Amino acid sequence: MTETGAPLVVVENVQKHYGDFQALTDIDLTVNKGEVVVVIGPSGSGKSTLCRTINRLETITSGEISIDGNPLPAEGKGLAKLRADVGMVFQSFNLFAHLTILENVTLGPIKVRGLKKADADKEGMALLERVGVAEQASKLPAQLSGGQQQRVAIARALAMNPKVMLFDEPTSALDPEMINEVLDVMVGLAKDGMTMIVVTHEMGFARKAANRVVFMADGKIVEEATPEEFFTNPKSDRAKDFLSKLLTH
Ligand SMILES: Nc1ncnc2c1ncn2[C@@H]1O[C@H](COP(=O)(O)OP(=O)(O)O)[C@@H](O)[C@H]1O
Ligand SMILES: [Mg+2]
Repeated sequence: MTETGAPLVVVENVQKHYGDFQALTDIDLTVNKGEVVVVIGPSGSGKSTLCRTINRLETITSGEISIDGNPLPAEGKGLAKLRADVGMVFQSFNLFAHLTILENVTLGPIKVRGLKKADADKEGMALLERVGVAEQASKLPAQLSGGQQQRVAIARALAMNPKVMLFDEPTSALDPEMINEVLDVMVGLAKDGMTMIVVTHEMGFARKAANRVVFMADGKIVEEATPEEFFTNPKSDRAKDFLSKLLTH
């Protein structure tokens, strides 16, 4: 495991309501530079909501979130900049269907970072190389397998030079034989020192790449531990119950 640095993502006393329903309660979480945190927990426990508040796709009811020392701005220019600092990969790859693989990766750099097309293409090809789909650059998303599309989605997020990458169940929609090709790319990113918050139930990934596992239930962080501690000796009944169900599948 690589050494981790100063705090990069700081979530303090965050509450999030959807109407009357409280989706996040008293969330405190600090992720250091270079750290990989796996978030795990039952369906409906608030994992996606946490990711979406960090990326500011959702507003919070109260509390504070900062990225690299900058508090999340409400809106406007600062928000666009913040979004560029936070790369996000979802369960559904959401590539632009009418753009080629390379164009999917270069769109943001050209439109948001202001790169010239030739420079964006060069960077984009290097990223496609890194995730192992460079040969597919001129194809359309529908011509690629799910695993290949998800790797393109990772390259697209990386193209914005994010400070932190959020992954929300990135392999849940994939056929089993494609899961590892995506996890391998993520393990590579982790080894390269990328700061990552990863919602996943892939214990192999957690054991291989995570510095810490955060277990959520009912909108709260119930337990935090190293992967080894968490999987072999969970403390809370909620975590024990959750893990026993996970292991029997
Ligand atoms: N846009 C929304 N409006 C109302 N309730 C929501 C919304 N998004 C999520 N929720 C609720 O918040 C809770 C947490 O959801 P979510 O963050 O998606 O959990 P998880 O990702 O852990 O499955 C769930 O009870 C869900 O129904
Ligand atoms: Mg979710």
